[in-house]
Amino acid sequence: MRALQFDEYGPASVLRIAEVPEPHAGPGQIRVAVRASGVTPADWYLRSGRFRDRIPLPLPHVLGVDAAGVAAGDPVFGMVELARLGGANAEYAVLAAWAPKPPALSWDQAGGAAGNVETATRVLDRLGVGAGATLLIEGAAGGVGTVAVQLAVARGARVIGTAGGANHEFLAGLGAAPTTYGPGLARRVAALAPGGVDAVLDCAGSGSLPELVELAGDPGRVVTVADLNAAAHGVHLSRSGGPGADTPAIAGLAVAAGLAGQGRFTVPVAAVFPLAEAAAAHRLSETGHARGKIVLRP
Ligand SMILES: NC(=O)c1ccc[n+]([C@@H]2O[C@H](COP(=O)([O-])OP(=O)(O)OC[C@H]3O[C@@H](n4cnc5c(N)ncnc54)[C@H](OP(=O)(O)O)[C@@H]3O)[C@@H](O)[C@H]2O)c1
Repeated sequence: MRALQFDEYGPASVLRIAEVPEPHAGPGQIRVAVRASGVTPADWYLRSGRFRDRIPLPLPHVLGVDAAGVAAGDPVFGMVELARLGGANAEYAVLAAWAPKPPALSWDQAGGAAGNVETATRVLDRLGVGAGATLLIEGAAGGVGTVAVQLAVARGARVIGTAGGANHEFLAGLGAAPTTYGPGLARRVAALAPGGVDAVLDCAGSGSLPELVELAGDPGRVVTVADLNAAAHGVHLSRSGGPGADTPAIAGLAVAAGLAGQGRFTVPVAAVFPLAEAAAAHRLSETGHARGKIVLRP
């Protein structure tokens, strides 16, 4: 089958489509004929070699952690075994966690959904976000942020989300009160939430944790998925897979599928590329300004 892999670390141009053996599902797994799969920033961190000391990968490595496709006749979406850090950007993928694909999500939307649904659910659970809470999401317009906004709103939370000005209307459409990131954030958030915020999710990793901790009033009320200096600020860095990872929140897949069926959850897709144009997909992710999820079709 065709799969997206890299044989050496480097820029997006090291990506290539290779013929590799079809994978086979083990116990508790399913194999899907992939219709669409996601690109996440971790894919190009891995490809560039940024993590080569901390996470040594046997090369060549097939990328992609989530996909939607057909398994034994049924449309599903889900994630690979997270410790593998790949395998989904291919014609066939083995999933370790999945849910039926709701008709309300297209193949592209479902293909890029699972990783971010798992991440957002894991972090909202850890922060205890529920009805009546006010949650600030730093970096709300990207893959994780757009999903976290909607799942938090569905829990009954009030969400304030940061994004560049061009994304404010977009964020409002997802149910968040939008504001701009950067200097003066505390003042802008205070204007939107005079009673303060109960919890903060950092999806940006832009170095704003000191301000976010001050806004929350306690580092225990802040979780980041993107700032590797979290510990220096007393903040928890939540990860999926690998050493020190939090427990995966796979129940979130069924919750998101149910909400999609009720018209309360969608996956904004930033762009769709054929597998053969994966380098362009990686370059778009590398800009740090994709609006929603980047998707590959095998
Ligand atoms: N630990 C985990 O389990 C886990 C899981 C998934 C992802 N992650 C990490 O989480 C981060 C986000 O992932 P993603 O898939 O959401 O990325 P993404 O889709 O590439 O996010 C892009 C978004 O970031 C926003 N942004 C850029 N600069 C910003 C800033 N200074 N402040 C606030 N927002 C900013 C952009 O909004 P504007 O265009 O409006 O600026 C854009 O919409 C990445 O570092 C990724 O590796 C971690």
